[in-house]
Amino acid sequence: MATNRTFTMIKPDAVENNYIGGILKMINEAGFRIVAMKYTKLSAEAAGKFYEIHKERPFYGELVNYMSSGPIVAAILEKENAVADFRTLIGATDPTKADEGTIRKIYAKSIAANAVHGSDSDENAQIEGDFYFSKLERF
Ligand code: CMP
Repeated sequence: MATNRTFTMIKPDAVENNYIGGILKMINEAGFRIVAMKYTKLSAEAAGKFYEIHKERPFYGELVNYMSSGPIVAAILEKENAVADFRTLIGATDPTKADEGTIRKIYAKSIAANAVHGSDSDENAQIEGDFYFSKLERF
């Protein structure tokens, strides 16, 4: 069943380049409501756990190093059809393949430093949101 919620992170490259405001503006203008939000930094251990589903992939080590290299913004977002609509808003994982006007086309540098994360299913949105936020941190 669709939960109408998704989970996102603004990744270290986008934070470092001062794109937090621009990305949040696009998220709000696309009709997403912010349920929870946190400015934080992942340890290598926490990044490894968050991306555990990619453990066997060749890029896992690079991904973990990168995601723990600087602060990120984590958020739970709400909108009808949130998971699919957010993936449309952010564009393809590889920014060279992302559609014009998408967040990754505008703000991402590379497939690894691709500005934002977006959950790929309702189930993962739930798991990823629970990774960062308690019930008391959701509004
Ligand atoms: P994200 O949506 O956060 O989910 C997994 C991440 O792995 C993905 O975005 C990319 O940043 C990263 N990723 C996927 N494929 C590659 C790749 N071929 N090389 C490096 N990083 C990758």
